[in-house]
Parts: sequence; C-alpha cells; structure tokens
Amino acid sequence: MCGIVGYIGHREAYPIILKGLKRLEYRGYDSAGIALFDGTDIKLSKTKGKVDDLQDKIEREMPTNGNLGIGHTRWATHGVPNDVNSHPHYSNSGDLVIIHNGIIENYESLKKELIKRGYTFKSDTDTEVLVNLIEDVKKNENTKLGKAVQIALNQVVGAYAIAVFDKHKPNEIVVARLGSPLAIGIGEDEFFIASDASPFIEYTKNAIYLEDEEMAVVRRNKGVKVRKIKDDSLVDPYVQELQLNLEQIEKGGYEHFMLKEIYEQPSAILDTFRGRMRPNEGIIKMAGIEDNMKTFLNANRIIVVACGTSWHAGLVSEYIFEDLARIPVEVEYASEFRYRNPVITDKDVVIAISQSGETADTLAAIKLAKSRGAFVFGVCNVVGSSIARETDAGAYTHAGPEIGVASTKAFTTQITVLTLIALRLARAKGTISSSEFRHHMIELELIPEKVKRALESDAYVKTIADIYKNASNFLYLGRGYNFPVALEGALKLKEISYIHAEGYPAAEMKHGPIALIDENMPIVVIATKKGHYEKVVSNIQEIKSRKGKIIGIVTEGDEQVRALADHVIEVPETIESLTPLLTTIPLQLLSYHIALMLGKNVDQPRNLAKAVTVE
Ligand code: M6R
Repeated sequence: MCGIVGYIGHREAYPIILKGLKRLEYRGYDSAGIALFDGTDIKLSKTKGKVDDLQDKIEREMPTNGNLGIGHTRWATHGVPNDVNSHPHYSNSGDLVIIHNGIIENYESLKKELIKRGYTFKSDTDTEVLVNLIEDVKKNENTKLGKAVQIALNQVVGAYAIAVFDKHKPNEIVVARLGSPLAIGIGEDEFFIASDASPFIEYTKNAIYLEDEEMAVVRRNKGVKVRKIKDDSLVDPYVQELQLNLEQIEKGGYEHFMLKEIYEQPSAILDTFRGRMRPNEGIIKMAGIEDNMKTFLNANRIIVVACGTSWHAGLVSEYIFEDLARIPVEVEYASEFRYRNPVITDKDVVIAISQSGETADTLAAIKLAKSRGAFVFGVCNVVGSSIARETDAGAYTHAGPEIGVASTKAFTTQITVLTLIALRLARAKGTISSSEFRHHMIELELIPEKVKRALESDAYVKTIADIYKNASNFLYLGRGYNFPVALEGALKLKEISYIHAEGYPAAEMKHGPIALIDENMPIVVIATKKGHYEKVVSNIQEIKSRKGKIIGIVTEGDEQVRALADHVIEVPETIESLTPLLTTIPLQLLSYHIALMLGKNVDQPRNLAKAVTVE
C-alpha cells in the first residue's frame, strides 16, 4: 500500500510524477522518492517524510530534467521509514531502478542466495532484493529487461505492483502486477503509470488496468505490450475510458478532503440511488441483482466480508437484510474469515464490501469463498478495482473518489446500496408489502435533504469538540441499527485524533464498560426516536447517575434526552433502518473538529493508508 507513478513521453517527467505522488499520498506517506533519467544517467532523490519534504530536497539538490521517470510514496512494511529504505531502489550495478507496492514474502531466502552470489544490500527492504534478482537474471540469462523481470517474478511469492527501468535502455519502463493495483494511462506518444488513474487524469482518459499476474513493457513511441507473467502469452488489453474528472479529486475549497467528503454526502447518496430506484412506480433495479435474482432468492444465508468502516456498513446491512428480507446474515472480518476454514457452500451468497476495492484481506476472503463454490457479490466504490473485477457480480456505490484516509461518504453510500439490495430482495421474496416497499423508497429519496440538515449542526458540533478535545477516552453507545454507527463513530475518532474510543451496544454497558464512567468520560449516545428509544433513555439515566458527560444524538424536537444530556445534537426524523445515514454525520464532524483542534493531520493520520493492500 504505497503509491507508484511513472512517466515516459515527450514532457518533463518531474512535475507529472511529483503531482501524481501528491495525489497518491493517501496510499502511504512514510517516505517518498523519485528517479529521473536525464538523457545520460539516472538522478535519484528520496527521503523520509512526505512528498512536500521530497520536493524541498529535490529542488535543493538535483536537476529535474528528463522525460522518463518513476516515483514512490511509501507505507512502510519491510524496514523502518527512513531515507535508505525509501524507494526507488537501485540494483547493485546502478543500471536498474525500481519502485514497488506490495510485499515479497520469500525475500529472505532470495536475499541469502543473492548474497552468496556477491550482491550487497543497503536497505532492509524486500524491494532491493527484487531489483537485484532482476539484475542477476538479466546478466545470467543475457536477456532483455522485460524477460528478466518475468523470470524473476516467477520466483517471487507475494504481492507487487512494480515499475522498473534500465539506464541503458531509456526508452522503456517495465511494469507488473500481482495483488496490488497498476494502471497505465495511454496518451499521444506518452504513457503514464500509476497505482490509480488520479495522477494522469488531466492528460488522458484512456487507461489499461493490468490484471493480476500480468506485466507490460511500455515503450516510448511504440506502445504497450501486455503479457501473462506465468506462461508469456500475449494479452489484448482492454482500454477503459475513465469517468473520473479533475475537480472530483481536488479539495474544492475545503480545508481537508475529509471535510469535503463529509459535505459531499447528500450528493453522493443521491448518486448512489439515482437511476436505480423509482418510488412512484414502485421499482428498484440494479443489474447485478436482477441478473442473479435466483441465486439470491435461493441462498441459505448471506455472508458479508469486509474490513474497518466497510465492515461497519456490513453490520448495518445485517439488520436491514434480516429485518426486511428475512435472510440470515453473518458479518465477518475478512482478515479472520480468510484464515479460519469457514463453512461455505454453493448455497451461500457472499457480499464483499470495500471502498477501495483493493483491500488485501477482503480480496483473499473473496478468493476463498469462490473456491468453495459461493457466489460473490461486490459492493465497491472504485470502478475497475481488483475486488470489482474478482467478484461474480456487484454494485458500485458511485460515491466519487474518497481521498481522506478516514472513510465518510463511502460508509453512507455503502449503506445506501445495501438498503436498495435488501429492499429489492424483500419485495421479490414478498417479505414486505408493496406499500412498505414504496414507503422505504420515499424515505430514502428524502435522505439527501435530511443529510444536508444534519450537516447544519456543524458549528454546534465544533463547540462540543472544543469542550471535550482533551479527554483521554470516549465511549460511543447505540442500539439496533445504531450500534454499528457507535462503532464507526469510535473508529473515526481513534484514527484521526488518536484518542482512545470504544463503541458498544448501549445495553452491554452494564456488563463491563460502565466501570469506566466518571465525570471525565464523554459518552456519545445515539438516542433517536425510532428504535429502542425508551431503553436508550434508561441507559442514559445509568450514565447520568455515574456523572458521565452525555452527548446525545437525538431526533429533531426531542425533549426527554435533552433534559438528561449535557449536550444534544439533532438529526431529522426518518424510518429506523435509515437512521444510520443521519446519525453518522455528527459523529464524523465531531472527530474531524477534535482532530483538527489537536493539530493532527486529518487527511493522513499516522500509521495509516487509504488502501490496505497488505495483510
Ligand atoms: O477500502 P476498504 O473499504 O476495503 O477499506 C477498509 C478499511 O481499511 C477502511 O474502512 C479503514 O478502516 C478506514 N480508514 C476507516 O476510516
């Protein structure tokens, strides 16, 4: 989960690579580096820190001319984040230079062999092993770079997206992928390489997404030749037309991507159901569901696999599917599921949820489920991502690019898609009446406007953030549909403010966490009118008698919780199953403001990356 960028063509490579790295920084920001071919030799600079630090360094110490280059922004796996472990890495001769996103699992045994053959290593990385393996093959087999890369990769166990070039052949870059994404932008006599299309979107709308176990030789003025790494067969690549535009990936006047993405939720949710739902005609249509209706209706159960925020959206869907469509649901952490020999049959439908579509654990869970005969349906945001391609069918969330590491609009749009699916299946199974079906759709159609109203609490949420920003712990409580929202609220706070927070079902409090409550503990309680309201009010009483500070998330006009809580944040009323789409909003804003007030890097929190492509 690093970002890689490359360029070969007629323009200066440096500004393209630098800008590309800034756009890919969400993938990792421990260190960064760029290697350029200046017409005679390779010029390379790298540093611990962010792409801005790299830019300062390069502009102080290195000429930036050249129209071939590669760049990398790193999320450290092998070796601490320091200058030496940063990419790009040279081979021993200094002829080859490489960037790599992924993990070479058998690097230690390969390294031992290379050391025996006289190779030396400066860094602790698996990547330096790979570039020397390629060099070794190239020398021993007296072969071209492309062939050497292919032979070397056939000895490698692990995951990779790589770009490598040879200073003696400065008219080509060789790229390959297994398990980590790699896109090639096709311009007029120029080519771009990147982990996603954002670095080249203003130059070309045409891109090839390499499939797993494919490699390509990208030649100046000649084009792209794609092959299978295993058997060397030529592949006729599909050139995709990109829908993404530049405005979508820029901050649009907001201070941070996270804030922009929080505020985009009304339109993102609208985009998610637009064209799929017609309340007046009583229709929900999603191709991936219609085409596989029999499979869904005959399923014994649905197993949801996902990680992090997507797992929380999966938990919300458990309530929706069981409540509306009466289909049993199990929600699994993909990272646990993949390693515990789960019972899966061809009567199971697996729904894999992922914003990025690149999460390694979720991908592995999908492969396992498929190998056991299950039908796998993907709910992804990134079009053309690995998970979107690996699943049997799917539905995109259409949230637009999410750059902030903390997931916001991905969560609410995932819930929206899952609600549409549950409603469609419920209607097909006859577990809800046509009037209930319409009522749900009408309520869903009102959600974007209601999210806008929920966002109006921003200024008040900020004052609450100011009061509690120095707390060491937070508790988040919710019941039913809002229990996963409590988990999500706690995750948001933890990941960007580094304050310890826990989400709990409100009624579980008395089985342990209640012991934590004293006058220093802020407790966010989701207490909307629909769903266990009276029970949650009792839980609030229990907190109050232990002097906890109560921040209630309540339905507009609420009196009862207002009388008990220290603060209340109102959200508009809706039906119970849709409340998560509204109650999530103030929790996102609360974590955003606290993190900002504490001086944290909201969009790029420490130790994290947007797409977790390592297990
Ligand atoms: O791209 P995915 O939805 O598969 O990512 C899963 C998690 O890594 C992700 O949701 C993570 O927990 C976020 N940082 C949460 O804000």
